[in-house]
Amino acid sequence: MPSSLKLITLLLCLFLSAVSSLTTSYYEDTCPHLQSIIFPTVQLAIKNEPRMAASLLRLHFHDCFVQGCDASVLLDDTSTFVGEKTAPPNNNSLRGFEIVDKIKQDLEAHCPKIVSCADILAILARDSVVLSGGPGWEVQLGRKDSFSANKTATNSLPNPFRDVEDLLEKFKNMGLNVTDLVALSGAHTIGKARCSLRAGPANQICLASENAYLDTTPVRFDNEYYLNVLAGKGFLQSDKALLSPPARDIVQAYARDELKFFKDFTNAMVKMGGIETLLGAQGEVRQSCRKINEIQDCKLGDASMCGKSLKN
Ligand code: HEM
Repeated sequence: MPSSLKLITLLLCLFLSAVSSLTTSYYEDTCPHLQSIIFPTVQLAIKNEPRMAASLLRLHFHDCFVQGCDASVLLDDTSTFVGEKTAPPNNNSLRGFEIVDKIKQDLEAHCPKIVSCADILAILARDSVVLSGGPGWEVQLGRKDSFSANKTATNSLPNPFRDVEDLLEKFKNMGLNVTDLVALSGAHTIGKARCSLRAGPANQICLASENAYLDTTPVRFDNEYYLNVLAGKGFLQSDKALLSPPARDIVQAYARDELKFFKDFTNAMVKMGGIETLLGAQGEVRQSCRKINEIQDCKLGDASMCGKSLKN
């Protein structure tokens, strides 16, 4: 191959790799202050209602496991599709949409049409963990938002009534392993679940109310979840299921060593955040996280908005 052709090929490869992978510096030039725009709003939301940290963390998980981390979970139903919000795993339990709306509005005021809703969810998940006393990590960015959502695609989410083999299969389908399954299940160190989903007879709290905490230190992100699981006090059947091999040894390790849990959790969050992301020219940056952009933007001459909405 002539050397000029080699150089062009090399430059092309470099260019393609630059546009086709997530990076921590994605908004460095286009929206340099995005993290400091987002953080105070999450902080206030969690101060007003500590459970919001759990709800925002769960939103990112439910986004990534259903057709990838593309903010499909945030789309309201339209005349052409029924979205994910009314599917059984989400209906009556997924929360935090208004916080996402508020943050999106703030970002549109500072850096219009730049920051994707899928990236907002990834940042919110990290900030929620940090604000609950858990570990921080550098969030990989550059995801684009989907043009549609699909209620039945939520079948890919793990079922809280299943055993460890079934849970592991769902995680493997996402490119995640047993360590990721056990570490990510540690997210149940914060937040609540409906008592109707509780494994075993109703506890005191469930006799009196509809929801109960998943963990004994429910607003603190720590390794208490694993101690509870080992003591047979897992809230969901899927929490108890981690007592079986091959998950059991990992549960024991995290119960002994919180730092190990934090290290594996952050690693698994970055892996989860990379599931089937839309990159480069794929997808769009939604202006409202609840709906795809109008074709009008394209007509008004904004090339980045062109043609996409027509698909729906
Ligand atoms: C291992 C498979 C998993 C199953 C079967 C599962 C299932 C559930 C269920 C049934 C609830 C309660 C929902 C309701 O009340 O209707 C819940 C809550 C929650 N889940 Fe999971 N989950 C799993 C993994 C994860 C992962 C990977 C994360 C995040 C990384 C996560 C984060 C949460 C949080 C934070 C809550 C509490 C939400 C709130 O209080 O609003 N879960 N999960």
